[in-house]
Amino acid sequence: MSEQLPPTVTEIDRLNRTTFDALASEYNDSMRLTTANFHDLSRGFFERHVYDAADQDFALLDLGAGTGFVSSLLSHAKGLVLAIDISFQMLVHALVPDNIQRHKICGSAFALPLGNATVGRIVSSLASSFLRAEALKEVSRVLRPEGLFIFSMPSKAWTDTIRGLGDLEKTTFVSRAGFSSVAFSFTYTQNEMSQLLDKYEFDVLESTVSRGISLRNYDRSVSPTLVEAAKQNRLPLDEMPILELYACRKRVGGG
Ligand SMILES: C[S@@+](CC[C@H](N)C(=O)[O-])C[C@H]1O[C@@H](n2cnc3c(N)ncnc32)[C@H](O)[C@@H]1O
Repeated sequence: MSEQLPPTVTEIDRLNRTTFDALASEYNDSMRLTTANFHDLSRGFFERHVYDAADQDFALLDLGAGTGFVSSLLSHAKGLVLAIDISFQMLVHALVPDNIQRHKICGSAFALPLGNATVGRIVSSLASSFLRAEALKEVSRVLRPEGLFIFSMPSKAWTDTIRGLGDLEKTTFVSRAGFSSVAFSFTYTQNEMSQLLDKYEFDVLESTVSRGISLRNYDRSVSPTLVEAAKQNRLPLDEMPILELYACRKRVGGG
């Protein structure tokens, strides 16, 4: 039996671009409930880690910007805001506040079109589409020493459950019209994530697991996918790990 080779970054980008281009017109919180639940759980965390952007001149990068969830939290940023995404269509639909100096760039986290040590902070919501060694190496390269990398990732506990016997590195999106499309999605245990971050010279300043109970704080239904994952794990939804949030600092002298 031949062993399957891991996907190359070119293959990953090709599939993700196609899928997110197709989803772009409906990638918003009113049409995608699971994403809306993730956004609710992470908004406060991201705001807390970018609140000082008004006092800083550094460039800020929204990586895997999609339709602009993080960029929309940056209307107070003083420095340049860059929104980078592999999907041109996601950027076309991205709402980026008008009052900030911003640029949308179609490009890949695996080969960032930026110079070494040029960015002060990289913020990435739902980074799982490209959360691999190749991207962490690039994030580390473009960040200034002591720059921050702030990101969220769906918890591996529920992604593995819901992906079941299928491909654990892919997620399925169903469009409003009922068409399914898949994208790569890399999730990690906390231990695996810590090792990966350490390898690429990041110190973890804060890591948090958001569980189902936190969804009670928002006036929104809970995605049936999350409810189903809790059921399959024989856990009350309140205890189900849903989203992981990380704030890391590039080590001085690192990368
Ligand atoms: C799950 S969506 C999250 C979008 C947005 N950050 C949010 O929270 O709504 C992942 C985004 O990453 C983008 N993406 C996938 N692979 C990428 C890569 N290699 N480089 C940059 N963006 C990528 C996708 O096109 C998509 O917009």
